[in-house]
Amino acid sequence: MNPASDPEFQIQPGGRLRGRIRVPGDKSISHRALMLGAIAEGITQVSGFLEGEDSLATLRALRALGVPIEGPDEGRVRIQGVGLRGLRAPSSDLDLGNSGTSLRLLCGLLAGQPFATTLVGDPSLSRRPMRRVTDPLRQMGARIQTTDRGTAPLRITPVAGLEPIDYRMPVASAQVKSCLLLAGLYAGGETCVTEPAPSRDHTERMLAAFRYPVRRAGSRVCVTGGGRLTACRLELPGDLSSAAFFLVGASIAPGSDLTLEQVGVNPTRIGVLNILRAMGADITLTNPRNLGGEPVADVRVRSAPLRGIVIPRDQVPLAIDEFPALFIAAACARGKTLLTGAEELRVKESDRIRVMAEGLAALGVAVAPRADGIEITGGDYGGGQVDSGGDHRVAMAFAIAALRAGEPVGVRNCANVNTSFPGFAALAAGVGLGIQEIRL
Ligand code: S3P
Repeated sequence: MNPASDPEFQIQPGGRLRGRIRVPGDKSISHRALMLGAIAEGITQVSGFLEGEDSLATLRALRALGVPIEGPDEGRVRIQGVGLRGLRAPSSDLDLGNSGTSLRLLCGLLAGQPFATTLVGDPSLSRRPMRRVTDPLRQMGARIQTTDRGTAPLRITPVAGLEPIDYRMPVASAQVKSCLLLAGLYAGGETCVTEPAPSRDHTERMLAAFRYPVRRAGSRVCVTGGGRLTACRLELPGDLSSAAFFLVGASIAPGSDLTLEQVGVNPTRIGVLNILRAMGADITLTNPRNLGGEPVADVRVRSAPLRGIVIPRDQVPLAIDEFPALFIAAACARGKTLLTGAEELRVKESDRIRVMAEGLAALGVAVAPRADGIEITGGDYGGGQVDSGGDHRVAMAFAIAALRAGEPVGVRNCANVNTSFPGFAALAAGVGLGIQEIRL
């Protein structure tokens, strides 16, 4: 993406967030609904699908692999499953854009196919580490080439069959776990993955929704290859990672009272709720229910004075995508907030520790980045220009920061907000953020 043609956000300082809104569908679950629907038998109907660039990259890749998919149309998608063995060779490289989840999960799905594929991405995705998936897939017998740095493009060539493995993951990563479980569907025997700490378990839950047996014991999850997935109807929850910007925004902006309807509150995702509550946030969950095996609730947030905390390490994998928003909460809290054990943030869509630290410093917030985290001292801050580094979540975090800024905030390089949250600026403006999207 050429930054010169990128949209910018310009946000007036102050204001408050009030009303009831629904954030778009969960990104992680949207990818999985497409992938499992594609290899299921029968027609899977999905509603609440995220029509963002990342999940659309997965959709286009699956179409290129011969899966008939109708939609998306107002969040509805109809997938004509081709069965476990029904994918076909694509006629060109599969371009996954900015989406790490698409690339890593599809790598697992495609490692055991009887045809070759090449997976490519944008400059950000092409910098991200892929050995975490290619190493264990090679242990299963897969043939995958990367660059010398272990990055995309990934060239997968067919092998006679995959061997099951019993793999102990060095980092808590749902993408790695899901990649290996998808490859495990094609292995001759039982593939098991053990995680060092809980990571999001959407793949396990959705396999169960497609009536594929999954064996879970503590931190170990196993699938046996060669079974069948049965198509189903899925209604997807709103994305807690998108809701996070509003949870922080309404917490920090005095006079706010905002309800987010039908948000996913899977226990492996709720680190952001736990951390904000520990900081003093006023968040209540009502109307709890279950959607396709995923817990959801309406989440009400009212402004409250926040205090700095030492973020418990066990919450880090449970809040891994929400730290850009949480850093803004820390900047508005009384006292210091310390995050450690979060080196994974350096290999997300941007180096989120560096890019957030630079942006916070530009607004006048006292920050001390560390190799594996950051220390942020809360207090009053000003305005100014920040650069998102092309990272959707950084862009939205700084937009929300304006609620407590002394001067207007400008955020450059915002095109990738569409990867996870199309319509963010309009939705935020509708509940009180003084945001304008400017196309240069
Ligand atoms: C995701 C897992 C997480 C998260 C990403 C989505 C998923 O990545 O950061 O946005 O859908 O499985 P890691 O597995 O690298 O932690």
